[in-house]
Amino acid sequence: MRAVDISRPAGTPAVRTAVVWDVLRAVLADRMSATGRDRLDIVDAGGGTGGFAVPLAGLGHAVTVVDPSPDSLAALERRAAEAGVEVRALQGDAADLGDLLPAGGADLVLCHSVLEYVEDPAGALGAVAGLLREGGAVSVLAANPLAAALHRSVAGRFDEALRVLDDPEGRWGDRDPTPRRFTREALAALLSASGLRIGEVHGVRIFADLVPSRLLDGEPGAARALAALEQAAAVHPVLRDIATQLHILGHR
Ligand SMILES: C[S@@+](CC[C@H](N)C(=O)[O-])C[C@H]1O[C@@H](n2cnc3c(N)ncnc32)[C@H](O)[C@@H]1O
Repeated sequence: MRAVDISRPAGTPAVRTAVVWDVLRAVLADRMSATGRDRLDIVDAGGGTGGFAVPLAGLGHAVTVVDPSPDSLAALERRAAEAGVEVRALQGDAADLGDLLPAGGADLVLCHSVLEYVEDPAGALGAVAGLLREGGAVSVLAANPLAAALHRSVAGRFDEALRVLDDPEGRWGDRDPTPRRFTREALAALLSASGLRIGEVHGVRIFADLVPSRLLDGEPGAARALAALEQAAAVHPVLRDIATQLHILGHR
């Protein structure tokens, strides 16, 4: 049998982030209705080049990105200018959020694909939680070790798949570029330890990274069908837990 080619995962970036955007839109709508404000204060911790921050600013919110990488912040500023929106860019580490921004000043803090890379995930989440207003929320997205095991096995790397399952950091080996991954339980424990109430959990990219892109290329309607499948499976109690990334909300 021929190995499945997953070198080009299926789905456009929009398909791969559709589930997260659905959740964020609902969080923003709830918060706008609860506060009576149309313009919310949003911080994107480790927001990088602004893949989330720029569209959020485009929705009319006041968005601040904090990221240690000057190159990413420069790319963010170009992206924001091209989109005709303003995003405040601050160079800094997630652990130092409390020194950079006022405590209790944010309605929503994003922490997407960042906990994997920071030195101290619990410290970073504590700093994130400190930014939230009462009733505010944090949106955490992080890599899932169970998906890494699946992906290594589909690539024929069975020993590496086994290592992911045994490794406390969820890594498949010394060449694994991701420093650590988080199970649903580990993420929930981190949020709870920061004094946040656990909200909804969604699986992100359950199928998109397992099917080859040729199954979508040139197939009319396939991308839309895949997005619908991802959205339905995101809350499935079993499928959710094998997603490439886990998305979890924490509420203050
Ligand atoms: C995989 S990118 C994710 C970017 C963005 N959050 C997104 O979802 O598109 C990881 C980002 O984390 C940033 N980062 C790395 N270490 C960090 C730290 N200690 N504090 C805050 N951000 C950090 C990197 O500069 C990079 O922009």
